[in-house]
Amino acid sequence: MVSLSLLSLSATLSRLHFVPKLSLPPALGSVRRPARCHPRPARLSSSSSSSWRPPPPSGPNSGSSVSRGGRASAAGDDLVVLGIETSCDDTAAAVVRGDGKILSQVVSSQADLLVLYGGVAPKMAEAAHAEAIDPVVAKALSEANLTARDLSAVAVTIGPGLSLCLRVGVRKARSIAGLFSKPIVGVHHMEAHALVARLVQQDLQFPFLALLISGGHNLLILAQSLGQYVQLGTTIDDAIGEAYDKTAKWLGLDMRRSGGPAIEQLALEGDAESVKFSTPMKQHKDCNFSYAGLKTQVRLAIESRKINAQIPISSATTQDRSDRADIAASFQRVAVLHLEERCERAIDWAMEMEPSLKYLVVSGGVASNKYVRSRLDQVVKRKSLELVCPPASLCTDNGVMIAWTGIEHFRMGRFDPPPLADEPDDAMYDLRPRWPLGEEHVKGRSEARSLRTARMHPSLTSIIQESLQKQS
Ligand code: KG4
Ligand code: ZN
Repeated sequence: MVSLSLLSLSATLSRLHFVPKLSLPPALGSVRRPARCHPRPARLSSSSSSSWRPPPPSGPNSGSSVSRGGRASAAGDDLVVLGIETSCDDTAAAVVRGDGKILSQVVSSQADLLVLYGGVAPKMAEAAHAEAIDPVVAKALSEANLTARDLSAVAVTIGPGLSLCLRVGVRKARSIAGLFSKPIVGVHHMEAHALVARLVQQDLQFPFLALLISGGHNLLILAQSLGQYVQLGTTIDDAIGEAYDKTAKWLGLDMRRSGGPAIEQLALEGDAESVKFSTPMKQHKDCNFSYAGLKTQVRLAIESRKINAQIPISSATTQDRSDRADIAASFQRVAVLHLEERCERAIDWAMEMEPSLKYLVVSGGVASNKYVRSRLDQVVKRKSLELVCPPASLCTDNGVMIAWTGIEHFRMGRFDPPPLADEPDDAMYDLRPRWPLGEEHVKGRSEARSLRTARMHPSLTSIIQESLQKQS
């Protein structure tokens, strides 16, 4: 029974994100009632308005003259999309125009909760999103001088992330889309981190290499075209942002702006060569990452120096502060060296596949770090590439990247028709907490990781490929 229901779920998923032919079952935003009420739920029609018609797609697969690497036609420049992001600890919304103009950007962070719990506690984060979502979206619309009626579409993160948190954003997006009969675009959070670089740098064409570094992910991705990604490397345990956050917590730093900025600042006072941490995965000649071992090294160094995290850095003695700064600087040097080494190799791998490669995009929260940027800039210069790094406010989680990714897919005809205006409150949404972005490059496979992939959704790339095959 279990495998049967899994099969039917994956069959539904494989039709996601595609030009809505109204005869097809609902796409991305498939809604089901909870299983406890309806063990075999009938699908609900997802169109609320008989007058709504899908706009014609304008991407390469729809026969327009846009090249593989190019931006979509200027015809879509007057699109206006609301983007909603609630996958982790920031409640964010923004309105962006098809020509890349940001009409508004609002972020409400859960800084106080982070300090209180030392990390993201899903139930608390859900409650904080639920409280913030209405005012954040209302502010994004009013700062853009628009009402929901003026929107072309609503884009929302559907994964990866915490289910409880994703659900808050998806419910809000669907209620607006249902009420105003707007199409809806489900967005992959990590794809959005990468694609926002195309908003910032308008001539950034596919293919490009992307290093995506955040609290939960460390990805090296070759972006071949919109939706087509090859995963060259990922983390086999923790992401770099998690290592920054734990190091900051153990050093007693102020976590109100998350651990990363606190470490970056303290590291400026320290000697980066003073504590000898070893670089992770030296013997593995691939592009994968590991930060769990470095975290352990940091914890041991902190214990051996008897640093007490209960004493905030602001009250530390001069010697204590200097010890903490040395650890922060030494940690940062090695954490970033690991990125540098993996990026060098990934550039070589990517050049074999795409000799015309010109850019390395670096995005995600950790990419707002100036030391990270300057070290990676040296890597790309050695390899004769160009670094594209969005401004800090677009590297950390934000609604702009979701709206922009929505625009990119909407132009290609990848969206869902408006949901029902009176969708039930207990509806179950198609959320994807564990959702790979691309297919693994054969050289980058790791056995340890394969064992952990059982409960994952098919990757965004495989879903899009399957849909393309069905269309042709
Ligand atoms: O992309 P993001 O905002 O949220 C996730 O998708 O996880 O990334 C958050 C991560 C946190 O771990 C935070 O400590 C880190 O990005 N971060 C930084 C900096 N600013 C944020 N890490 C290092 N240096 C920074 N300046
Ligand atoms: Zn993120």
